[in-house]
Amino acid sequence: MDFETDFLIIGSGIAGLSLGLKLAEIGRVTVITKKSEADTATNLAQGGIACALGEDDDPNLHEFDTLKAGDGLCHEDIVRQIVRQAPDRIRELKKWGVNFTRDPSNPERLDLGQEGGHSRRRIVHVEDFTGRAIQKALMARAAGKKNIEVLEDYIAVDLLTECKIGYDNDATERQKHSNGPKSVERCLGAYVLEVATGTVHTFLSHVTVLATGGAGKVYLYTSNPDVATGDGIAIAYRAGARIANPEFVQFHPTCLYHPRAKNFLISEALRGEGAILLDPNGEPFMKRYDPERKDLAGRDIVARAIDMELKKSGKECVYLDISHRSPEFVKERFPNIYDVCLSLGIDITKEPIPVVPAAHYMCGGIVTDANGQSDLKGLFAIGETACTGLHGANRLASNSLLEGLVMAHQAYLFIKENLSNFTQKPAHAIPAWDTGGAVDMDEAVLISHNWDVIRRLMWNYVGIVRSTKRLGLARLRMAPILSEINQHYWDYILTRDFIELRNLAQVAELIILAAYRRKESRGGHFTIDFPEKDDWNWRRDTILKRSNNGG
Ligand code: SIN
Repeated sequence: MDFETDFLIIGSGIAGLSLGLKLAEIGRVTVITKKSEADTATNLAQGGIACALGEDDDPNLHEFDTLKAGDGLCHEDIVRQIVRQAPDRIRELKKWGVNFTRDPSNPERLDLGQEGGHSRRRIVHVEDFTGRAIQKALMARAAGKKNIEVLEDYIAVDLLTECKIGYDNDATERQKHSNGPKSVERCLGAYVLEVATGTVHTFLSHVTVLATGGAGKVYLYTSNPDVATGDGIAIAYRAGARIANPEFVQFHPTCLYHPRAKNFLISEALRGEGAILLDPNGEPFMKRYDPERKDLAGRDIVARAIDMELKKSGKECVYLDISHRSPEFVKERFPNIYDVCLSLGIDITKEPIPVVPAAHYMCGGIVTDANGQSDLKGLFAIGETACTGLHGANRLASNSLLEGLVMAHQAYLFIKENLSNFTQKPAHAIPAWDTGGAVDMDEAVLISHNWDVIRRLMWNYVGIVRSTKRLGLARLRMAPILSEINQHYWDYILTRDFIELRNLAQVAELIILAAYRRKESRGGHFTIDFPEKDDWNWRRDTILKRSNNGG
């Protein structure tokens, strides 16, 4: 069956749903999500939303801290746009029903948490389950809108695109002369697999939005939910959009280390409230790595310090201790972390928490402008899947929910203002999905084996500390895996697991390629062969485009 809608949004986290709520005012919105509506990274976010609201704070300071964390690769205009809009977006969330935690000493005000890299307390939060509270409020609001349809268990396979030969409208006469005519692609929607029936549908839309979140599952250890398989980046790359800076994978320093804890984050907000990292002998160690900021140094520094401590001691985890704060405070401020740890036999009011770093956030992604537009007309990318230039080489804590909200708002304003530019009918009929001679894949091991190989390879060869040799080997090892997956794509009927594997493999290849190309250490990318920053690379993004790489 063909679906037709005005706005197709792929992903149901903060970026997708907040944009959907606004676009529903001007047209029909279809949100597709590959599992259930609440299976998002947003839902797991603990920390909160950075917003300069304190009396001692100012958006200029928020901007300064973001630029400092981003280590020379942030786009200053985007940083300014996003941090300045934060108070408006917080007000909007309050209006939509999110009850942010209030300052216990002055309930007129919101409580402001502290996280690494922030020079002021500025994290607006709902206790330690901010994301869950936001997800719930957005879903409730979307359920009440007749113009929004949410389809669960629908996964995008690839985009529908139209290709014309012509000149880039924005090019100067001189550029037109020297570049020659170029292929301009427009996005018309997507091929989408309905998981329950195994049918691939054609979804036609005026505007398509990738809001698919991150790609943490490309690594063996991650704080991300299972759905974080880099779908948006892989889909956009295959369609010819530019991808920027995928080498900057942010590793969160503190995920719970416990055999029964899957992907459970121990929020940086604990360190903001005084928690201290301890080595296996119980000694604080961050003063050796960042004497000034110690445990509240940037995430890249803390994650590398822990990696170093683990390699030195040969142990499997370090510890995070907040037991010096009163049990009442800990339970009230971190009820979720307290409960989860207690259920695993760890009383965080009395004993240190075993922690390890894990892949947490993709700072790079699909290149977009200040309105969330990608290179393809009609294709927008919002949230973690995009690279707007906010994060540079390393994201400042609690800037991600903020980016999702602000960029969704910008995209809405832009689409509303320019709607007639997106509503032309396709020049040709869109062909229905053709399964060709594909047959059922009756051996699930063909997927699970490659899934496992990629995630281990990425963790061991493309992890927190990299080397040219390991990156080169990773490239070599990925090549046959990619060609095997490509062959399966033609041979077998598509399933959700296979689509995810195909995307995961694509994103792994992009991370490796970009990391191999960056001959310096900056932000989240550290290589022992080039341990210093190269000033030449200041403000230089790594750009990958399919046609350039022959990929
Ligand atoms: C955390 O709570 O530590 C995560 C917040 C973030 O990733 O911004």
